Amino acid sequence: MSPLIIANWKMQLTVPESIALAEAVRVHERGAGTLVLCPSFLALSAVASVLVQTGIALGAQDCAWSDRGAYTGAVSPADLATLGCAYVLLGHSERRVHFGETDHMIGQKLRAALQANLQPIFCVGETEDEWRSGQRHAVLLRQLETVLRGVALVGAQRMVIAYEPVWAIGTGQVAAPEDIMAAHAFIRDVLGEVLGATARDRVRIVYGGSVDAETVQACLQQPYVDGVLVGKASQRSDRIGKVLTAALPH
Ligand code: PGA
Repeated sequence: MSPLIIANWKMQLTVPESIALAEAVRVHERGAGTLVLCPSFLALSAVASVLVQTGIALGAQDCAWSDRGAYTGAVSPADLATLGCAYVLLGHSERRVHFGETDHMIGQKLRAALQANLQPIFCVGETEDEWRSGQRHAVLLRQLETVLRGVALVGAQRMVIAYEPVWAIGTGQVAAPEDIMAAHAFIRDVLGEVLGATARDRVRIVYGGSVDAETVQACLQQPYVDGVLVGKASQRSDRIGKVLTAALPH
């Protein structure tokens, strides 16, 4: 199965820049389901038009926990699906840190996204302090259990988990390959315990945190790594081109 490459453009690009980058990325298409572009909300519609009749999927960077309601400023998962989004990032550490998102809120968003037929890309990962004090597995367990346990997650096997150590995001410091492998194996075990064997076997687990053209292959070569989530190195056409060429050789 080919790896899943997810590009997170964050709030870094204008709408015209997003359109131009999506146009540049089109030449790298390698069949449906391999590449996901996550532009800002305002660029989704325009980028959706660029991606028509390509196998490149569209993802949003967040969504609300409800399809409809008095939630000023929020974005409905059902509307994202109608717009052409197949995926939605949820629980990114930047949402947790800057917007106060809790595991409980992320759990509600995840259920709403699945109900809207979106594929959630649920981000988990430890901070530097937690990493240094040996709490990585405890943190991953807490995040996964709080978000996933309790309510039946219909279609949960469509979900993607992104292991993103907070200390690796935007720092140029990629986690060591053996650490990535160990974290992914642990996440897969927890998925089996919380959601059962089908989810354990089917949910894809991707790594994110300072992945670029130089490091992408080493990440993808690790067992249990089904893809990568790329921020900075996906936000310029030359850089994303190199990442995709390294990750998906012809
Ligand atoms: P980065 O971002 O590749 O710039 O570290 C990854 C992410 O935040 O998803």
